[in-house]
Amino acid sequence: MKKHLYIKTYGCQMNVYDSGRMADVLAPIGYAPAQAPDGADMVILNTCHIREKASEKVFSELGRLRLLREERKAEGKGDLLIAVAGCVAQAEGEEILARAPYVDIVLGPQAYHKLPEMVAQAERAAAARANGDDKAAGPGRGVLNTDFPEEAKFDFLPAPRAEGPSAFLSIQEGCDKFCTFCVVPYTRGAEYSRPVEAVVAEARGLVEAGVREITLLGQNVNAYHGVGADGAEAGLGHLCRALAKIPGLERIRYTTSHPRDVDDALIAAHRDLPQMMPFIHLPVQSGSDRILRAMNRGHTRDRYREIVAGLKGSRDDLALSSDFIVGFPGETDKDFRDTMALVDEIGFIQAYSFKYSPRPGTPASAMPNQVPEDEKDARLAELQALLQRQQIAFNQDCVGREMDVLLDRVGKLPGQLLGRSPYMQPVHVTAPADLRNTIARLRIVSAGPNSLGGELVAAADPPHSSERACA
Ligand code: 5AD
Ligand code: SF4
Repeated sequence: MKKHLYIKTYGCQMNVYDSGRMADVLAPIGYAPAQAPDGADMVILNTCHIREKASEKVFSELGRLRLLREERKAEGKGDLLIAVAGCVAQAEGEEILARAPYVDIVLGPQAYHKLPEMVAQAERAAAARANGDDKAAGPGRGVLNTDFPEEAKFDFLPAPRAEGPSAFLSIQEGCDKFCTFCVVPYTRGAEYSRPVEAVVAEARGLVEAGVREITLLGQNVNAYHGVGADGAEAGLGHLCRALAKIPGLERIRYTTSHPRDVDDALIAAHRDLPQMMPFIHLPVQSGSDRILRAMNRGHTRDRYREIVAGLKGSRDDLALSSDFIVGFPGETDKDFRDTMALVDEIGFIQAYSFKYSPRPGTPASAMPNQVPEDEKDARLAELQALLQRQQIAFNQDCVGREMDVLLDRVGKLPGQLLGRSPYMQPVHVTAPADLRNTIARLRIVSAGPNSLGGELVAAADPPHSSERACA
């Protein structure tokens, strides 16, 4: 009998990618996607640990799933397997099983290829319990795997399926940078890069299935150092060159980059390859050298400026987004002014900004001079107002320009398609339905704070044949 799987994904794009891979790895053992936890035979919470109260949210979600399981049983619909994956699972695996012993599976991000085995084990235990055989079911429900195994999970996972003209491709995982505020080095482990050929093969498969745009993913994507065909290590610039040779792959993006790992080869790739999108997410976190040092970022504000100048030198239409943290321990008003000044000077077309929140186990959480909450609130509001002004100014500046837009969805209004500009701005346009999943040339005619409106100039390429059309 077909079983149904629902995955709830929190956090970053790496988790979105991982959720897809977990679904892929469970399809051969009979799990088809469910649209909601109701009606699912298994629910996986793919968790994120980067911000505050992450684990509390997971525990309250688990409580709801436990009730759902009881209801299912009362209705005679059978058991519901509950799994916790992702970074909260990695960081708090034992505690999850202690506090929520009704959870069946806890697995860290490096163990996804072990999921079928773990599910089979949990299914056997559930069946034994249903037959009243508590001995065969074992003492509790939970199976735990939070190892950082020697073998790379990617070698054991099936190739992903394409679901539309844009796809994520994970090329690198983990981080050795140990910024003092961040949990990632603890939850995702040391840096690991997939070999160039494995990445190119996955990209080819995606393009053959209709993908036109690939976003390369990694916690530190430009620290990529995969083994090339010649046995030597290759950086991200080299990898992008190899990918740009795939016919039909029209857009290459990558995220998230670290300023320290921007090298000449990556800058040259932006200069030489038309497939490289002119939009880079390059978190700076703060504009104060004192705070950057306390954060262990490994760059100063001047170095950041130089890196930005190098990237902008590769093509004049290049634009940046960034991440910021306000209220890092010890941040004074002067430090915050330095951040505001850097934002003013560089200009970001989009950004994410956060109040510092102490993550247990990270060095910054034990630092003195934690900034009061109301101070953090005031700084965040001021910074976000500036970033918002910059975003709106950029959107308005786009009016009158022509842009290639990847039309990947139908819009809300009849006859409308929605897509993404090279800068990831959502763009809506009235256009024939067969232009969906193609890149069309649009003239931008209107701008809002978060999206643009366009008019069709010309289709940049012929529409896909129907068998290549994506969902
Ligand atoms: N507090 C606030 N923001 C954080 N980030 C990471 N850790 C913390 C923390 N402890 C932010 C950083 C990072 C983004 C993904 O999340 O800006 O770049
Ligand atoms: Fe976290 Fe810093 Fe590594 Fe980014 S570079 S994942 S912020 S430790």
